[in-house]
Amino acid sequence: LPLLVHTRRLVSESLRMYSPAWLVTRQAVSDVRLGEFTLPAGSDVIWSAYALHRDPELYPDPLRFDPDRWLPERPQPPKGAFVPFGSGKRMCIGDTFAWTETIIITALIASRWRLRPTPGTVRPVGAISTHPSSLQMVPELRHHTVVGKAR
Ligand code: HEM
Repeated sequence: LPLLVHTRRLVSESLRMYSPAWLVTRQAVSDVRLGEFTLPAGSDVIWSAYALHRDPELYPDPLRFDPDRWLPERPQPPKGAFVPFGSGKRMCIGDTFAWTETIIITALIASRWRLRPTPGTVRPVGAISTHPSSLQMVPELRHHTVVGKAR
């Protein structure tokens, strides 16, 4: 897993641009100051990793899918600017598992298959989680793969 650095960058960039949890909620348990706003106890707060991850002050050219922005030699976003799994006490408990499975599954599929999208526009849809409006692809077996044998 630690050797799959390119796949990790791809997954990081996907989580940045298309955070599955695009809206996260909190409720103020006491009066709280948030930047220039004072929120009374009981206020509902909705924040969006999807929007935060597209802020040009945090991510240059934010609408460009660029896995190499995660190269260690490139400037990294400040603490708190990359939060696909939330933050604080209620942060996702499955984050390590999700990173692990997503990287392994992506690398496994991509090592055997080339997935060519069919023509058409794919939009991100924000429901409970973010998902593609439609994602039809034609799988092509990569030449070096021996069907039915694990490599
Ligand atoms: C790409 C995959 C996933 C994403 C993007 C994701 C994202 C999130 C986010 C944003 C939250 C809310 C965090 C907050 O309020 O600050 C959350 C909560 C949670 N997630 Fe995930 N999650 C993922 C996968 C998983 C998996 C695989 C599990 C379980 C194995 C899991 C279990 C949970 C649980 C139990 C909570 C509630 C934690 C709490 O309220 O204390 N998640 N997740």
